[in-house]
Amino acid sequence: MVKASNPSYILAIDQGTTSSRAIIYLAQSGETPKLKPIASAAHEFKQHFPENGWVEHDPEDLWQTTLSSCEEALQQAELTAADLAGIGITNQRETTVVWDKQSGEAIYRAIVWQDRRTAAECRKLREAGHQTLVNERTGLLLDPYFSATKISWILDHVDGARARAEAGELCFGTVETYLLWRLTEGAVHATDASNASRTLLMNLAQREWDPELLALFNVPAAMLPEIRDNTAEFGCTTLLGDKVPVVAMVGDQQGALVGQACVSPGMLKSTYGTGCFALLNTGDEAILSNHRLLTTLAYQLDGKPTYALEGSIFMAGAIIQWLRDSLGILDNADESEALAEGVPYSQHEMLIPAFTGLGAPYWEPDARAAIFGMTRDTGRKQLAAAALKSVALQSHDLLTAMAEDGQAIKKLRVDGGMTANNWFMQALSDLTGHPVERAAYSEATAFGAAFLAALQVGIFNSIKDIQQLHKIDGEFNCELNHDQQQKIHQRWLAAIEKVR
Ligand code: G3P
Repeated sequence: MVKASNPSYILAIDQGTTSSRAIIYLAQSGETPKLKPIASAAHEFKQHFPENGWVEHDPEDLWQTTLSSCEEALQQAELTAADLAGIGITNQRETTVVWDKQSGEAIYRAIVWQDRRTAAECRKLREAGHQTLVNERTGLLLDPYFSATKISWILDHVDGARARAEAGELCFGTVETYLLWRLTEGAVHATDASNASRTLLMNLAQREWDPELLALFNVPAAMLPEIRDNTAEFGCTTLLGDKVPVVAMVGDQQGALVGQACVSPGMLKSTYGTGCFALLNTGDEAILSNHRLLTTLAYQLDGKPTYALEGSIFMAGAIIQWLRDSLGILDNADESEALAEGVPYSQHEMLIPAFTGLGAPYWEPDARAAIFGMTRDTGRKQLAAAALKSVALQSHDLLTAMAEDGQAIKKLRVDGGMTANNWFMQALSDLTGHPVERAAYSEATAFGAAFLAALQVGIFNSIKDIQQLHKIDGEFNCELNHDQQQKIHQRWLAAIEKVR
């Protein structure tokens, strides 16, 4: 590898659940190290909900919105591809694409992480007693959230797909693998260890595809990508006008863990995007949870793994999007802050956002959302506050599960679109009882991917260098006493029980 000049430009691609974004960073090491965003572009794409609990994306939309965002960011920065030292990709995890090796065409739409169609299959596997093996090998649970049962569903529902997969004619990939394939025009079929750890097919200790799991989920080995470190020479693209290497790939939540500089054991970040994902760095120890949290690969550098304990909530920003797009009670997401202002936490209304089931620590794929306690004066204000509060209360459940696993948290480092909302930030601190520190950049995910890319091209020397780049722009402290918190939590838990 040739060391890039200092400073250099890095392109981070963040392919998320509702939009694809490209951000160009100026990366510089030395006395005043920098990783500064200088241009960005983003495009939303269509969500498909063909049946109750199903969520799909058109892979072509993921690719086209990614490509046009990259082109626009370059134009905005007045740079060309030749100016880029490397690309870092970060992405919505678990979302499953299967495509034809020859034509590159997807054989079915991407089945999104939120999709619940394989709930019955997961239940069958649990009832047959496979949960323990799966949990010990992968750190995950038998839930439709992960890729394995989604792959099998595609192979069983598209004519001839299983035979073609067994003959090596089809490729499987999570989104980073699909984008890498498209960027390299079919030359490279590879993933990274953080994304591979979300498929239910990777052995967490060895970071290799596990033959017993492949047999259990009926997934042919011939369709799987090669697993690499998070920083590696993944291949080059010429599609942006000149040759640029892809040098980092990382699942978006692991990207945010790096971006929030949580690179020592005991540090936790919580990202409020479409969903909310709290990851606690546990160092070189993969700690298995007794409280239905996930154990996952945080990052792997030079073959050395770092693990995390994860609490995954499926709906966070997506609830606000629902208030805006489906109920039409907000013109834009920012309005939720002013609306919630003045509504007491003790309000009657309680929203349980199980729109796509419940994630950690409940894992109820068949639960559905509900609003309890409405009266004649329930209006936009109360619904906005109940929605924001439900995200804070779900976070509280995750932190409680972590504490019960012996991993007590001192502080929450937060990022993501929802963290711009000060009412929500204060509610998060009040209802979890923890101090909250907001990152100065809401795009911690892309920041982490850009940092890993800059590490691979030699601008930075060690993962610890990210600590010098981390900045916060707000701190929120709990103003509620224990009794007040308890009352709200009890009502919340009672409401959760009603949807299970
Ligand atoms: O596991 C799903 C997660 O990666 C999605 O992230 O940012 O699209 O909510 P986000």
